[in-house]
Amino acid sequence: MTRRPYIVGNWKMHGTRAMLSEARAIDRAAQRHMKVEVALAPPYTLIHPIHREAEQIGVGAQDCHHMDGGAHTGDISAAMIADAGAKFVILGHSERRTEHSEGDARVRAKAEAALAAGLRIIMCCGESAETRESGKAVAFVKRQLKASLPPADQLPADIGDKLTVAYEPIWAIGTGNAATTDDIAEMHGAIRALLVELFGEEHGRDVRIIYGGSVKPENAAAIFAVPDVGGALVGGASLTADSFMGIALAA
Ligand code: G3P
Repeated sequence: MTRRPYIVGNWKMHGTRAMLSEARAIDRAAQRHMKVEVALAPPYTLIHPIHREAEQIGVGAQDCHHMDGGAHTGDISAAMIADAGAKFVILGHSERRTEHSEGDARVRAKAEAALAAGLRIIMCCGESAETRESGKAVAFVKRQLKASLPPADQLPADIGDKLTVAYEPIWAIGTGNAATTDDIAEMHGAIRALLVELFGEEHGRDVRIIYGGSVKPENAAAIFAVPDVGGALVGGASLTADSFMGIALAA
C-alpha cells in the first residue's frame, strides 16, 4: 500500500499558547495539501488546545511513560496523552535517550504501552558522529531499532498505520547539516530490509521510514526524492507555518 508522505513537526521544548496561531496556520495550509499527511508534536501543554481546533493535522506527543499510572512525579502515561487528544507519540528520540538515559528496553516498553493505548508510534533511531566515523552506522542503527521495537507478534495487524520509523542521525539534528542523500539512501534501504526481515514482506514494506535532521524547505525535495524516504520529522523548521509547509509542499 502506498501511503501519503508523512511530515511531522517536533516542536521539542518550544511553544506556549502564543504559538497556537502557527498551529492554526499549519492546519489551514494542510487542508489545501491533502496529498501529504501533516502532524505536529507540540509540548504536552499544547496537545489539547491544538487537538480542539485542528481540522486536518494530527496531534501527538514527544514521549510518554511506559507504565499506566502510579507514583511517577512529573511523568505522563500513554492513556493520558491519548485522553488529551494525541493520536501518536514520538519514542526513542536521541534527546530522550541522551538526556534521560533511555535505553532500548525502556523505549520498547514505551512502545508497547503506547500501542496498548491505541496510539500510533514514531520510533526514532540514529547514530552519533563517532559511530558514523567508525564506519559502523548501519550496524548500530539496525541493532538499536531491532531492540527498540516490540516483536512482530505484539504489533497490531495494521503495522503500516501504527508504526513509522524515523531515522535521525544525531550529528544532523539542529546543525544545519542534513545527511547526504547517499547516506540517507543507504540507511533507509538497510532499515527497510530490517523491517521486512522482522515483519514480513507485506507489512515490512508498508511501514513509512521518515528522515529527520536539519530538513528545511531548501533541501526537502532532494531528500524526498530518495528511495524509501516516506516523509520527514522536522524540528527547528516546524516552528513557523511558512517553513514547515514549505517542506510539506516539497513532498
Ligand atoms: O525530531 C526532529 C529533530 O530531531 C530534527 O531537528 O531541528 O534538525 O530539524 P532539526
